Amino acid sequence: MGSLTLKSVHKAFGSVDVLKGIDLEVEDGELVIFVGPSGCGKSTLLRIIAGLEDATSGAILIDGAEVSAVPPAKRGIAMVFQSYALYPHLNVRDNMGLGLKQAGASKAEVATRVKAAAAMLSLEPYLDRRPAELSGGQRQRVAIGRAIVREPKLFLFDEPLSNLDAALRVNTRLEIARLHRDLKATMIYVTHDQVEAMTLADKIVVLDGGVIQQIGSPMELYNRPANLFVAGFIGSPSMNFIDAERLGIQEARTIGIRPEHITLSRQSGEWATNVAHVEHLGADTILYLESEKAGIVTVRLFGEHHYHPGEEVFATPAGEQMHRFGADGRAIR
Ligand SMILES: Nc1ncnc2c1ncn2[C@@H]1O[C@H](COP(=O)(O)OP(=O)(O)O)[C@@H](O)[C@H]1O
Ligand SMILES: [Mg+2]
Repeated sequence: MGSLTLKSVHKAFGSVDVLKGIDLEVEDGELVIFVGPSGCGKSTLLRIIAGLEDATSGAILIDGAEVSAVPPAKRGIAMVFQSYALYPHLNVRDNMGLGLKQAGASKAEVATRVKAAAAMLSLEPYLDRRPAELSGGQRQRVAIGRAIVREPKLFLFDEPLSNLDAALRVNTRLEIARLHRDLKATMIYVTHDQVEAMTLADKIVVLDGGVIQQIGSPMELYNRPANLFVAGFIGSPSMNFIDAERLGIQEARTIGIRPEHITLSRQSGEWATNVAHVEHLGADTILYLESEKAGIVTVRLFGEHHYHPGEEVFATPAGEQMHRFGADGRAIR
């Protein structure tokens, strides 16, 4: 109860192709994340799944049944937006129960389900408050609660944490992960934040330019990026890309090496470099090095390290961690 299939979904706005043939299988109970830069079509795809937007062509199946002709309210989908879209004049209880009430559920049924959702989200103390009397994080929990009470087959989240500050984002992220475990529901979650994608997803769908660039588990994307886009998008700081020619490597156009896969030594190593800049993040130290051989190289070291701008240091990439890409940008395996 809650699988989704997209078959060759296209969407054009006027003459602009926003989605160029999306094929995807989401299994019942999976938490799938759509990630990609702003404007790549994530929200449009979500709105098409919800029925708020029509696809130009292609098929959308929920539990194996084509739903293109099914109106949004009948698809068994609940959507949570970045802007909470709560009714300001209704208290939390009524905001959470309204959809259910409108769908014809009895008063007792609405009360029971609202109570259960409120307990799940620790919202019990706030049931009589109006949205204006809540923090941003609490408002977003109400919006999630409103989705839960409807017991949808499919939860859609569109950047639900973007309006929250950093600490709340982490808390709410953990809460969504817990909810997914408790409800065992199918969830599709859109974000432009790769950390959110890596930490929450069973499966990540990387979108760029209206095309799926890669589908995989977080660690598959990290360990085996299919192309330069995914390699550069997943991981922070981003993977270093070096012209293969500079390294005397013929069988590839570009070599990729992650900042955490380079070791440093003051005595000797593969690339002679000069320290350009150092960032101390507490748990990590990030170094920006200038080298003749490899250009500017970012290195991430665990812990606190005292290198100084202008200092000479040798950098050595871990050979088995190097990624090779061809002229078409695809990974060579
Ligand atoms: N209703 C619309 N009319 C015309 N263009 C739109 C409309 N909605 C979205 N777009 C365009 O489609 C592209 C994808 O938008 P969107 O799906 O919102 O991207 P994302 O959510 O990944 O940031 C953007 O270039 C946006 O300007
Ligand atoms: Mg969007």
